[in-house]
Amino acid sequence: MFKIPPIAPERLPALLRAIPKAELHIHIEGSLEPELIFALAQRNGQMLPYPSVEALRSAYAFTNLQSFLDIYYAGASVLLHEQDFYDMARAYLARAAADNVVHAEIFFDPQTHTARGVPIETVINGLHRACEDARTLLGISASLILCFLRHLSEEEAFATLEQALPLQDKFIGVGLDSSELGHPPEKFARVFARCRELGLHLVAHAGEEGPPASIWSALDVLKVERIDHGVQAFKDATLMQRLAQSRTPLTVCPLSNQKLCVFPDLKDHNLRPLLEAGLCATVNSDDPAYFGGYINDNFTQVFAATGMTARHAYQLASNSFEASFASEPDKRRWQHQLKEVFERFVEYD
Ligand code: HPA
Ligand code: ZN
Repeated sequence: MFKIPPIAPERLPALLRAIPKAELHIHIEGSLEPELIFALAQRNGQMLPYPSVEALRSAYAFTNLQSFLDIYYAGASVLLHEQDFYDMARAYLARAAADNVVHAEIFFDPQTHTARGVPIETVINGLHRACEDARTLLGISASLILCFLRHLSEEEAFATLEQALPLQDKFIGVGLDSSELGHPPEKFARVFARCRELGLHLVAHAGEEGPPASIWSALDVLKVERIDHGVQAFKDATLMQRLAQSRTPLTVCPLSNQKLCVFPDLKDHNLRPLLEAGLCATVNSDDPAYFGGYINDNFTQVFAATGMTARHAYQLASNSFEASFASEPDKRRWQHQLKEVFERFVEYD
């Protein structure tokens, strides 16, 4: 076990920004900044129901998940052409690289686009090309996870999977997102079983607003490898033990939880107790254009609010590599880089 060197508390924000990290819970449509929404609308000759970037941004006041999803799906309607998807992912990856993200596993919602007549190839090819270019131009590795919208039917999820399969080499797994309440994991049992047979990685949003039972079902019915959010696990001691023992990762998104009123005050966020209970918790941005910050903002703000220390920072970054679907040599290399950054911070004290 790496011995964490002493680091002056005032250097913690700089350390948090400098550490290499993996981002495992980012919806690419949630990285679409109002400026880019307006630029794409203009390029595509579309009218927006907001007069300005400022007016759109000021509409970002949410009371729960659904109030956010309504505006998030509306924002995505400017995406029409392969280049639009490329530009969106390219902008996110540049921003992530600036936050010292070395690896990103990026969610996308094909059904939001195919429902508007955009072919799935347009979506996947644009996003995938941006991931490939990011590797050579930004030195960041990135892969894609296709999410099924849980407010739609399992039959529609099967149809989306069918359309996506000719492009299977361009995504590494599937997830489940959108409205959790009223749409439990069981609804997607058969399509997840099929994806498992196909050798895809499996993840699902569970325990964001929904109860611990939703996390149990994601684990036991869908057989997911990671839980997205999962913060409601804290209400169930047996589930906490299961998650700690299995080291099933939770991709936690502090600013998202604050903005969607899961924890209205960041000082009440349970990331620290989850981590201290031995869970493989990680920090992520979810929908950074809507929730007021990218991954480093999530790190610095939740640390400031809850008093976490350099030891927690090390654990969170290390967990992000452990939790990723990257190769073992890549994981070892990033873990090594993480230690080097910690040592550098001590030397310069
Ligand atoms: N939860 C569920 N669905 C989503 C989210 C989220 O936080 N972000 C984008 N789609
Ligand atoms: Zn999410």
